[in-house]
Amino acid sequence: MIFRQLFDSVSGTYSYLMASRQGGEALIIDPVLEKVDRYLQLVCELDLRLVKAVDTHIHADHITGLGALRDRTHCITVMGEQSGVDVVSMRVTEGDRLDVEGLSLDVLYTPGHTDDSYSFLLSDRVFTGDTLLIRGTGRTDFQNGDPRLQYESIFGKLLRLPDETMIFPAHDYKGDTVSTVGEEKAFNPRLKVRSVDEYVDLMNNLKLPNPKMMDVAVPANMHVGMAQEEIRRRGWAVTAADALSLVGTPDVALIDLRERRERDKHGTIPGSLHAPYPDLQENIRPGGILHELAAATRKRIVFYCAFGERSAMAVQAAQDAGLSSACHIDGGFSAWKKADGPLT
Ligand SMILES: [Fe+2]
Repeated sequence: MIFRQLFDSVSGTYSYLMASRQGGEALIIDPVLEKVDRYLQLVCELDLRLVKAVDTHIHADHITGLGALRDRTHCITVMGEQSGVDVVSMRVTEGDRLDVEGLSLDVLYTPGHTDDSYSFLLSDRVFTGDTLLIRGTGRTDFQNGDPRLQYESIFGKLLRLPDETMIFPAHDYKGDTVSTVGEEKAFNPRLKVRSVDEYVDLMNNLKLPNPKMMDVAVPANMHVGMAQEEIRRRGWAVTAADALSLVGTPDVALIDLRERRERDKHGTIPGSLHAPYPDLQENIRPGGILHELAAATRKRIVFYCAFGERSAMAVQAAQDAGLSSACHIDGGFSAWKKADGPLT
């Protein structure tokens, strides 16, 4: 496995880049906007293809690199279901898995620092965001933080992992880079409490100043969705309501870009074909199934995904590849459901 821990010294943030092999798909957790050039250089040097950028929660101390990475690499942005962000490409929740080629991370909902805090478990290591830090825990006094929930997340989930599980947090201000579950159980002063009430009391009396960047970072991090005006202006978007009348018509091919897990969990639009977003380039080039489908049948290609981000990127790529009839459903499957579209 390729694994890199990257540090932003301004905000004390750790970001994690991982892939199963050189030349393969990569995933990054908690990227920082100012470091995006550095990440992309490394991705290039290691001959990787960045396909997913994930935030453990809405950060208050730095601006996320999610939007910039998506705009520059067309990767999928991922956050938890509870995140108040405007749009991400994919949302996950407890029990889901986050997959890239050769790697599969278990998704753990670990609220408390914020109500949208997640941890991600990759076999021998867990990425704990700001839920569990090295010899500390993330503050719980803003962004819908809740020390009681955090206690449950830490004691009920994270500390139940095997003692040798490595802990990689989103921050450290003392110079530590990694710990283990066993080490934190033994030495983390915040965990030396006898009850949840004692923990709540401890967390409610920290009296910390707000992060310097908070007033800038939180609003910026709430708006990570891609600008789609150009796609609409060019007539490459249909509303979910318009799409209702297209389904089942012979001159339209509806293409679902989501992953199998998303389809199984949330359902699909009847009659749609499955062509996952990571295979898009292969599918739209001459000889690819979507290219040939459009050429042979003259069908209009209508992409959709979960929220309209992957499909908007797919429309642009398909148009660039000469599929001039390609368009997408604005707002994706989420908008389709709101428009009471039928499901299978
Ligand atoms: Fe945080």
